[in-house]
Amino acid sequence: MYLEYWGLEKYPFENVPDPDFMYYSQEHEEALVRLVYAAKRSKGAALLTGEVGCGKTTLSKVFIQKLSEDNYDIGLMTNPSLGPSDFLREILYQLGLSPDTNSKADFLAILNKRLLENMKQDKATLLIIDEAQLIFRQTFEEIRLLLNFQLNNRFLLTLLLIGQPELRDIIKDIKQLDQRIAIRYHLNPLNFEQTVRYIVFRLKKAGLKRSIFTKQAVAEVFNYSQGIPRNINNICDMSLLIGFSSKTKVIDSNIIKDVIKDLS
Ligand SMILES: Nc1ncnc2c1ncn2[C@@H]1O[C@H](COP(=O)(O)OP(=O)(O)O)[C@@H](O)[C@H]1O
Ligand SMILES: [Mg+2]
Repeated sequence: MYLEYWGLEKYPFENVPDPDFMYYSQEHEEALVRLVYAAKRSKGAALLTGEVGCGKTTLSKVFIQKLSEDNYDIGLMTNPSLGPSDFLREILYQLGLSPDTNSKADFLAILNKRLLENMKQDKATLLIIDEAQLIFRQTFEEIRLLLNFQLNNRFLLTLLLIGQPELRDIIKDIKQLDQRIAIRYHLNPLNFEQTVRYIVFRLKKAGLKRSIFTKQAVAEVFNYSQGIPRNINNICDMSLLIGFSSKTKVIDSNIIKDVIKDLS
C-alpha cells in the first residue's frame, strides 16, 4: 500500500522469518556461530532460548540456509506437542521418510538406518525442534534416548532445541538430557543501539535510500517494543502506513505515539 509513497521496493517490517532480512546483532551472530559449531562438530545437543519474538525462528532459518550448502540431512519440527510415537513418526516425515508401520520400534529402526546411511555418505543428520517448550514430558524421554545413537563415541544425530525461556528450566529438570546439552545460548531483546540499527537495516534492505524515522521516533519505538523485533516490526509497519495516509515526509515521535495508542 505505502511502498511507492516511501520509495520502497519491499515491505520492510513483515513479521516473517525471512533470512534475507536477517539483522545480525552481536547476540544473533554469536548464537549462529554456536549453532553452526554444534552442527559441524557433532556436539550432540544444543539449546537456543529467548523471549517470544526475539528472532529464534528466523535464526533457525538462517542456520538451515547456511548448512545446506554442505552435507546435512536436516529435519525441522515446528509443532512438537506429540506423544513419543507420533513424535518419532514426525521426525521421519521431516527427514523425508514415510514409514508404513505404526510401531515405535520400527520408527527407531528406520531412523537408526537413516543415521548410519548418512554417516557413510559423510552427511551429518540434524534435527531442529522449534517451540520445544511444548514437548510432552514423556516425549522428552524419547529425545534423550535419541542421543544414544552413537558410533565410535560420535553422535550420529545433532539435536537443536529451540524454545521460550522456560525451556531452560524444563531441561534442567531432566538431568540426563541437561548433561547432554553441549552448546547453549539465550537470545535477549535488542538494546537501544541495536534497535536503531535494526530499523535502518530493514529499511535499507527494502530499498530505502534515506532515513525516515526521526531519532525521537526510534526512541519511542524502543520504549514500547522493549527491543523485541516482532514488536518493532508491528509499530514500524503501522507508522509507515499512517505516515502514508497523512502524507508526512518523515516518521516522527507523534506518529509512533499514535500507533502505540492504537496497538494497546
Ligand atoms: N535478527 C533479526 N533480524 C531480522 N528480523 C528479525 C530478527 N529477529 C527477529 N526478527 C523479526 O521478528 C519476527 C519475530 O521473530 P521470530 O524469529 O519469529 O522470533 P521467535 O521465534 O523468537 O519468537 C520475525 O518474523 C522477523 O521478522
Ligand atoms: Mg519462533
